[in-house]
Amino acid sequence: MITVTQSEELILLLSPIKADNKRIGFVPTMGALHEGHLSLIKIASTKCDIIVVSIFVNPTQFNNQADYDKYPRNYQDDIQKLSHTDCAIVYLPSIQDIYPNAGYKTIDFEPTELITLLEGKYRTGHFSGMLAVVKRLFDLIQPDIAFLGQKDYQQQLLIRAMVAHYRLPIDVFTADTVREADGLAMSSRNVRLSINARQKAPIIYRTMLQALDRIKLGHSIDIIKLIAIKQLSEMGNFIIDYFDICNAETLQSVDIYMPDNKLIILTAVHADGVRLIDNMLVK
Ligand code: PAJ
Repeated sequence: MITVTQSEELILLLSPIKADNKRIGFVPTMGALHEGHLSLIKIASTKCDIIVVSIFVNPTQFNNQADYDKYPRNYQDDIQKLSHTDCAIVYLPSIQDIYPNAGYKTIDFEPTELITLLEGKYRTGHFSGMLAVVKRLFDLIQPDIAFLGQKDYQQQLLIRAMVAHYRLPIDVFTADTVREADGLAMSSRNVRLSINARQKAPIIYRTMLQALDRIKLGHSIDIIKLIAIKQLSEMGNFIIDYFDICNAETLQSVDIYMPDNKLIILTAVHADGVRLIDNMLVK
């Protein structure tokens, strides 16, 4: 495994691989790697010849400076973990390398209403920054397949919209969410949970499961959402940004369940000040 910090080095390294027509799999991350990230690499290794993992805590996608400052950074640990996987190249760039000038910090298209909903509403600017960095990384690496997690469901929908908009020759693969034994979705932010919040956090998963059962039983969507929000808000020190049931493609809220419509339950909760997101497809 090779670690590179400069885009020039990365391009040099990748050019003979591309000339050889090897399939390049790319896993973009912000580090603080956990089993969720590693699952993407495992899947990539079954579909690609060479796996590139990027680790970059992207400042432009943080709408809150404190969240950016507190984001866990354990690059040595990350490299150690990656050395036990099929990752061939780790790209660990500086801010200057990703953003050599201001032009790279923005995207030049408005990817539909998706960008304004849910996370877009609560984290202004987050998705533009995320798309800008992913576009920059895609341009540098030009992977055949990008591997993303369903955990960030709206993010992967937007990346798919961006790939379609620029007609990039990249397949997007979305992998299932990896969870702790008690159901909490793995997240780099989990290490910041207080002991109390960590104990309570699996309620998010259980609440989604209950909502899922009620949807299938044909209960009123409005009432299902009210019950879920009540249950989560009774946890003490939990602040709920949203608990919504949406069309899985447009992310528009639905008010009635029709078995032919693919739906998704999505939620964002601040647990003792740490913001957690999760989702569950209604299958
Ligand atoms: P990060 O939060 O580090 O996540 C990197 C990738 O891992 C994303 O595709 C995310 O959905 C996936 N992932 C996170 N937790 C997961 C879990 N529990 N199970 C499966 N996959 C999981 O998402 C980002 O970084 C950034 O926005 C990025 C795309 C790198 C752009 O900066």
